[in-house]
Amino acid sequence: MHLAGRMGAERHSHLGQRLPTHQTHANQRRHPSAGRLIKYCFLAIFLFFAIGLLHGKHLSPSVVKYLPIPVDGTIGVIQETGAPVAELQTNNPFETPNAEVEEEREPPVSDESNPEYNLPNVQQNSATSPYPKFGKCTASFGEPDPPYENAIASHNLHNELHGYPHYILREHMIRGLWSKHGWIMTIIGKELAKPEDQRLKWLMWHDRDTVLMNPQIPLDVFVPPEPQFSHIHMLVTNDRHGLNNGVFMVRVNQWAFKLFASALSIREYQPEIPLKYTEQSGMEEAIKRPWWAKSVAYVPQRWFNGFPPDEDVMHDHTLAHSRQGSLLIHFASNRDGLRPERMAHWGEVAKNRTVEWDRPVEETGYLDEVAMYWDKVGKGEPFEKINREIGHRGWERYQAKEGKKVEKPKAKGKKEK
Ligand SMILES: *[C@@H]1O[C@H](CO)[C@@H](O)[C@H](O)[C@H]1NC(C)=O
Repeated sequence: MHLAGRMGAERHSHLGQRLPTHQTHANQRRHPSAGRLIKYCFLAIFLFFAIGLLHGKHLSPSVVKYLPIPVDGTIGVIQETGAPVAELQTNNPFETPNAEVEEEREPPVSDESNPEYNLPNVQQNSATSPYPKFGKCTASFGEPDPPYENAIASHNLHNELHGYPHYILREHMIRGLWSKHGWIMTIIGKELAKPEDQRLKWLMWHDRDTVLMNPQIPLDVFVPPEPQFSHIHMLVTNDRHGLNNGVFMVRVNQWAFKLFASALSIREYQPEIPLKYTEQSGMEEAIKRPWWAKSVAYVPQRWFNGFPPDEDVMHDHTLAHSRQGSLLIHFASNRDGLRPERMAHWGEVAKNRTVEWDRPVEETGYLDEVAMYWDKVGKGEPFEKINREIGHRGWERYQAKEGKKVEKPKAKGKKEK
């Protein structure tokens, strides 16, 4: 204020009004140039702030913190660890704000403007954008069922390491199992209502009976190479009964929104079609239709939807079974009624974080296989043939060596229960 007042006075004199009569000629010359200097200083300071406001995201944090007001709310996420995790989960009536993660942190974060927690400096969702590219979602309602709650919680470390928001539906939205479609449409619809550069790019659905085994596998590895496969909007897996939609990945776009609307409405529009597995069959019917089919890729089941491995896990090369280093295990079958026990066992293996299971993606067969897969798809080979071939490949050459120490990222949120 003081400076501004002085500058006003300066200008006053510059305009030649009320100049004191005793001022010399020299004084009159020096005075305006000093005034100009001050003006340039103010202009420079003004430009500094103006540029800062426009480009706040690109300035180093040490500069950004001197800016007068927050830059569209993103300043809070510019930090060394660059963890975007909870940024998009605030003020959202639909999204369960990572309930499990919240519970495990000491004091619940009540200040929504500062939802960050410090994460290890590992590969992040995106190096350049504060908005996560991948999200995960699931549903579990009714009385909390410990085996399923533990299975859902097994995803937390994965989510924290890579900055994936986790959307968990806790209410029955639509009759039967159709809440799954309803929930996916809810999430995708909310994303589509945001400016494009702030949206999730991909969403992974996982049933609540999946145990996350290797948190070091980023979801980016699976997605189709751009721009060659930018028309592929969905990655699904078949088991021997056809589509298994326990885990799949879908691009966040209008295509997906309409696909689920279509799948959700099949019963109403074509009641003559038998839906043996209700919502799963609804989705299977929808993606078989030509308009949708050309944008769906069938990938090897064990990539992200494998069933528990056999006893001899080292030599279990079945397409349908997860193996050491796989992202997760899906406990789809419960014919013997032992699902809770199986989930508890594998949940413990996951928690033990052994080097055999929990290892960097480079030390698994994923990268080679995924590259080979898209290469073959590009050559026009049928999915079924590709999956048979790739699905049975061994991972021996990637097996963790006995006694070999693998540098594991340590997440603050690592659970010990
Ligand atoms: C997990 O680790 C503990 C301690 O090393 C061990 O006793 C237990 O058998 C392990 N659990 C499984 C399922 O491997």
